[in-house]
Amino acid sequence: MTNKLIAEAQAKSMTKQNVHIFADLDALSQGMAHEIAKQAQAAIAERGIFTMVLAGGSTPRKLYELLAKEFQTQIDWTKVHFFWGDERCVPPTDSDSNFAMAWQALLSKVPAPKKNVHRMPADLATPEQAALAYEKELRDFFELFSVKSFPIFDLILLGLGEDGHTASLFPDSPALEEKTRWVVPVIAPANYKVRPRITLTLPVINQAEHVFFLASGKEKKKVIESIFKTSDLAQTLFPAALILPQGQLAWFLDHSTTEGIDSFSLF
Ligand code: 6PG
Repeated sequence: MTNKLIAEAQAKSMTKQNVHIFADLDALSQGMAHEIAKQAQAAIAERGIFTMVLAGGSTPRKLYELLAKEFQTQIDWTKVHFFWGDERCVPPTDSDSNFAMAWQALLSKVPAPKKNVHRMPADLATPEQAALAYEKELRDFFELFSVKSFPIFDLILLGLGEDGHTASLFPDSPALEEKTRWVVPVIAPANYKVRPRITLTLPVINQAEHVFFLASGKEKKKVIESIFKTSDLAQTLFPAALILPQGQLAWFLDHSTTEGIDSFSLF
């Protein structure tokens, strides 16, 4: 995107984004679960369905456990369709699998019909085959088959890496230039335990009605500060800064990621 377009998109997105800051990860997870329940209830009331993309990594575990316990009765799980933003190319039972974590913490505990759980088939023979298969599943679900079309998810949850990646969109990755595919194979940087992955692309994420970032841990403070204080520079360094959705962008942070950052004193 040209700088002018980025600036326009960013101005639009900044007016819609909001920042929720909590004392710690438990409080953040509670606050986010409350917002997710609200979004789910509204979407189901309006259209009888709620399409939610789950984040991977470890931060969302507490959130998923809360949704399965304290918030279980607040959402009609039979109307929720679950998707993933990214997946490591390991079996779905592997401890490094994003599906495995969500299954243990949430999906095995709520009455979501099996057909509503759209697992990324990242254990297929190759990451490219997995990416093509998942994109086909998404296109069939949304009934969108033209090359120029993109799905509009009700809610996409995203984590944040200390290098500024989100989903499996890593700094300097060719995946950041993808303009038409919905799902692509990537190789994570050498310091990551599981390198072959598949990920949703920026055009898909930026079509969402709502994008909720969740981040906890002081190791993420530098990226958070850059995204909020020097966003133009951040967009050249951190993929998370390129998340400028046409819908609402909300950040769920805790004090470990914001303490001492003056621009957050306003929140
Ligand atoms: C993944 C995630 C990734 C994750 C961040 C944060 O597959 O690794 O999708 O984007 O959200 O790396 O991970 P933590 O929550 O473990 O810090």
